[in-house]
Amino acid sequence: MYLLARIEETAFSTWIRESGWGFFTSLTLHSLALALVVGINLATNFRLLGVAKGIPIRLMGRFLPLMWFALVVVVISGTALLIAYPAKALTNILFYLKISAIIAALMITRHFSRTLFNEAVTGEVAVDYRVKTLAAIALILWISSIGAGRFLAYTNSILLASSFY
Ligand code: HEM
Repeated sequence: MYLLARIEETAFSTWIRESGWGFFTSLTLHSLALALVVGINLATNFRLLGVAKGIPIRLMGRFLPLMWFALVVVVISGTALLIAYPAKALTNILFYLKISAIIAALMITRHFSRTLFNEAVTGEVAVDYRVKTLAAIALILWISSIGAGRFLAYTNSILLASSFY
């Protein structure tokens, strides 16, 4: 807790919290970029579950470079939000559930990108029961990460660690 209080006292943390547009910009960038990350993943997973059957599965991979770029923006903006209120997120179990859900979902994306969303794959991509199950799990993980991220704003027990010192 002492370490979190020290982070809150840094110039960067204070600036994001108190400048007005520092927090606003970080949250806006976070929301726009996560819309791309989650949106592209939802689209590819829905495709594997049988939606938009006319689109060749291996071509869905063309969206992935944009998704990885947006992920970088999500991590940078998320880290800025975390530095603004470190105790708020790090003392809330929902934050750890959110990060775990994101990591697990990204592992599934990476697996699909190597095995299915790959233009080197020739012929029809086989979408068996195992692939569909993984796609359904990934959908649940992405939706959970959005829910956990949104509820972080309402479920914190501590806002600022520095209020204890
Ligand atoms: C694709 C991955 C991610 C998704 C889907 C996601 C989702 C969300 C959502 C929906 C919000 C709420 C936005 C709002 O209040 O309008 C949020 C806020 C936040 N996110 Fe993320 N996030 C992601 C990645 C990250 C990462 C990697 C970090 C940390 C490094 C992070 C840290 C935060 C923090 C600290 C907040 C502010 C919570 C608050 O209001 O107190 N997020 N995120």
